[in-house]
Amino acid sequence: MSAPIIIAIDGYSSCGKSTLAIQLAQQLNYKYVDTGAMYRALTLYLLRNQIDIHHPELVAQSLLQIQISFRLDDTTQKQSTILNGENVEDEIRINPRVASAVSAVSAQSEVRKFLVKQQQEFGHTKGIVMDGRDIGTVVFPNAELKLFITAEPIIRAQRRLDELHEKGQNTSIEEVLANLQKRDLMDTTRADSPLIKAADAIEIDNSHLSRDEQLNKVLELVKGLNKNAE
Ligand code: DC
Repeated sequence: MSAPIIIAIDGYSSCGKSTLAIQLAQQLNYKYVDTGAMYRALTLYLLRNQIDIHHPELVAQSLLQIQISFRLDDTTQKQSTILNGENVEDEIRINPRVASAVSAVSAQSEVRKFLVKQQQEFGHTKGIVMDGRDIGTVVFPNAELKLFITAEPIIRAQRRLDELHEKGQNTSIEEVLANLQKRDLMDTTRADSPLIKAADAIEIDNSHLSRDEQLNKVLELVKGLNKNAE
């Protein structure tokens, strides 16, 4: 068996990073960490406790009160996000207040420092796929494989809308597109760790790729790395 590596996946909101990361983790028998879920869980905590998200000192104090972990269901292979012992997986995905507030929370340096440290600890033993916005640039600048995933905004919005409809949320494509574009803008223009493609990342535009086509493309890249390492 080849030595375990770190696969860093970055890209815009709703471009299928998590789907790809989960598939890769299953195929390679790697751990999977969804860093967006960590920022979302923190945001949920702040909203629930009515902490002003635009007040960095109050937000920083809250960091001491939260514990975020992941739980994998062996049967369904579905991973859930656990906030202080509670499974918040569904709520962090469908609560529109979380989607609106998370970019402002994740722009704060204290927040990033705190969560990046945890993310780096998760990768200590390698054999991990991690997705987010700054994985190849900040969290694991030495990752063996870095991917930068993109897709056309309207296609991303449609995918997200389908996902929300499946979860029983009634919203419009215009609303979803506006939220995506707002988050893209905030994520790419923030001062601390903006979303950018690492110089050594491989870009994949999956607008017209099926999930399996995309997975196979990346598995080929992993194989190529293993061959080079032999
Ligand atoms: O991937 P996602 O949509 O669940 O991420 C939610 C938000 O968290 C996103 O708008 C930006 C932020 N985020 C970040 O700043 N850094 C990461 N590594 C992951 C997510």
